[in-house]
Amino acid sequence: MNVGFIGLGRMGAGMAANLLKAGHHVTVYNRTPAKAQVLVAQGAKLAASVPEACQGGAVITMLANDEAVEGVALGRNGIIDSLPAGGLHVSSSTISVALSQRLSDEHAAAGQHFVAAPVFGRPEAAAAGHLFVVVGGDPAAVEAAEPLLEAVGQRTFVVSDIPKNANLVKLSGNFLGASVIESLGEALALIGKGGIDQRRYLDFLTSTLFDAPIYKTYGNLIATGSFKPAGFAAPLGQKDIRLVLAAAEDLGVPMPVASLLRDRFLTLIAHGGDQLDWSAIGRLPAMDAALTEP
Ligand SMILES: NC(=O)c1ccc[n+]([C@@H]2O[C@H](COP(=O)([O-])OP(=O)(O)OC[C@H]3O[C@@H](n4cnc5c(N)ncnc54)[C@H](OP(=O)(O)O)[C@@H]3O)[C@@H](O)[C@H]2O)c1
Repeated sequence: MNVGFIGLGRMGAGMAANLLKAGHHVTVYNRTPAKAQVLVAQGAKLAASVPEACQGGAVITMLANDEAVEGVALGRNGIIDSLPAGGLHVSSSTISVALSQRLSDEHAAAGQHFVAAPVFGRPEAAAAGHLFVVVGGDPAAVEAAEPLLEAVGQRTFVVSDIPKNANLVKLSGNFLGASVIESLGEALALIGKGGIDQRRYLDFLTSTLFDAPIYKTYGNLIATGSFKPAGFAAPLGQKDIRLVLAAAEDLGVPMPVASLLRDRFLTLIAHGGDQLDWSAIGRLPAMDAALTEP
């Protein structure tokens, strides 16, 4: 397919590279143009503007947050302005449920298709094409997007024909991820202060009842204190918890653990953690316990 790709950050760079590897004709655009060079070297065409990235009639966005997606999609020379009638926008950023609904409405009013396709997996998974893609959208639009989704992920899960539902699923997943990080941090602080080796403890946990990638990945990052360079930056994790709480308030769902996580991210960032991986909140319990060495 001819496809534009907007947002060549930690995740987008790997996703765009996999679209090229799958044989798609990819036109890339990034606010900071220098980041596009590595994709151009792999065969991508460079777009100097958002309208240029939309010329193929289909475009994927992988941008930091709501503000970035609004800036690129809405308004003069935005995606909605630039795609032809019948065009397709696949939105993979983790954005609010409310913005996803607004994008659905505005694309529909312009006679265009909108598919929400947020992803699970960190930048290594994006680079390897191993993401899990959660999809919401009209069945015909989802079918049109399928060759693109297959190129970026190892599996695609269509959860709804309403795009914003995929965003709600994504946010719920990041709430669970952050909850695991906090809980692991507390458990590791407890056994660490009790004088037990954290690595051996994690080997035990993750080879028995907690044999899941999330415990392995984050247990290792917390136990080794490997928070830099960030794979998923703390301000983006903070953003996701904010979006979880907004969705929860809209739906009338109390989420006391999410409220606690909000404060954990505030603490981390107030202490200068904005360059760290979001899993650095898992180090806060050890600091609270005055445990200096992991
Ligand atoms: N990292 C992960 O593990 C992970 C996993 C799943 C989902 N996600 C989600 O995927 C999205 C991207 O994450 P990431 O880790 O790739 O972030 P990132 O490395 O910070 O990249 C963010 C991208 O958004 C662009 N951007 C930011 N603000 C912008 C603005 N106002 N206008 C235009 N472009 C703007 C950046 O452009 P510049 O290069 O010019 O800064 C960059 O291309 C986020 O929604 C995140 O929550 C991340």
